Amino acid sequence: MAHDGIIYLDHSATSWPKPPEVVDAVVDALTRAGGNPHRGAHSLALAASRLILESRSSVAELLGVRDPRDVIFVPGCTYGLNLALKGVLRRGDRVVVSSVEHNAVTRPLARLAGSGVKVVTVDADSAGLVDADDVEAAVMSGATTAVVCQHASNVTGAIQPVGDLADIAHAAGAVLIVDGAQATGHMKLDLEALGADIYVASGHKGLLGPQGVGVLYIKPGLEVRELIQGGSGGQSENPAMPVERPDRYEAGTLPTPAIAGLGAAARLLAVEQERLIDEEQRLVRLLMEGLSKIPGLRILGPSLGVERAPVVSVVHDRIAADRIAYELDAKYKIAVRAGLHCAPWAHRTTDTLLTGAVRFGIGRGVSASDIDQALHAMSEICS
Ligand code: ALA
Repeated sequence: MAHDGIIYLDHSATSWPKPPEVVDAVVDALTRAGGNPHRGAHSLALAASRLILESRSSVAELLGVRDPRDVIFVPGCTYGLNLALKGVLRRGDRVVVSSVEHNAVTRPLARLAGSGVKVVTVDADSAGLVDADDVEAAVMSGATTAVVCQHASNVTGAIQPVGDLADIAHAAGAVLIVDGAQATGHMKLDLEALGADIYVASGHKGLLGPQGVGVLYIKPGLEVRELIQGGSGGQSENPAMPVERPDRYEAGTLPTPAIAGLGAAARLLAVEQERLIDEEQRLVRLLMEGLSKIPGLRILGPSLGVERAPVVSVVHDRIAADRIAYELDAKYKIAVRAGLHCAPWAHRTTDTLLTGAVRFGIGRGVSASDIDQALHAMSEICS
């Protein structure tokens, strides 16, 4: 159980409570290193710059990125995905995308479709799993610039075959852009081995950092246009953004406290992650086993035993999802998220577009007792 008697099962939206190491790092940044990073050379500015450098290295190490300069700090996963899509795709390009993507992908693609990008959708199965052969067929049926796929679904938890998709994209001369919002932190990642050309992560979910920072990995040498221009702290006489990473993509003042917190979280995960992943998977099994015994409930996504991110969504055949979430919160102090989870495409795939679902998101700090209490509450609400 987390603070204040709340059983927090909304880790897929944002992880909470943040580890004390993260909170301390944020406070330290605000108090000891309050200058503007990469601007000025006084002691507080240098202290802030040092925190950014350390965090970049810690995140790079955790994610298997050899050169920390290929790790770019962005305001969040949504921003990173916008940068990737708009920085790669141009009028006349063709992009292949799965049918279970989040609005952070589908909405920028809708905008790009309006300016002449051809968007080809590959249907996932009813569990939300994308078949690499289907993606290959779509990629081979026309000159393709990019393949876009999530690593794990925020609705079904389904884990997509992104390694295979990288091979398929590369064989066709396309790039693979991966939305890693729900995978990062919950899976051991080696981004360079995975083969994604661009991988975007949220800092505040499984990576356990504060809100306000996300991570964008761009493979060395890949040309991606920056989304915004502005001050970069150096080469100020140049009317264009510097070409060097990460400066090209980080115009404006960086959120030092959030980045310092993320760095602390990455160092903590480097030590804890293996144990944490095992525990999350154990709790997912416990939750799925319990939920499957409650009459009227349907669990979305891959069946029990198939690997999934620690996300479990359910629909009841009689009781509305928002009613269940309301009762969990009001009567049992259990925090979950109901509705469409900003992912109507995924809900269309699981035939829950009209009903939405109740989502349990598991993460650091959730205990077996929390899951027992959630199951008890669900059986009372659904009786
Ligand atoms: N995308 C986040 C979620 O799935 C906010 O809840």
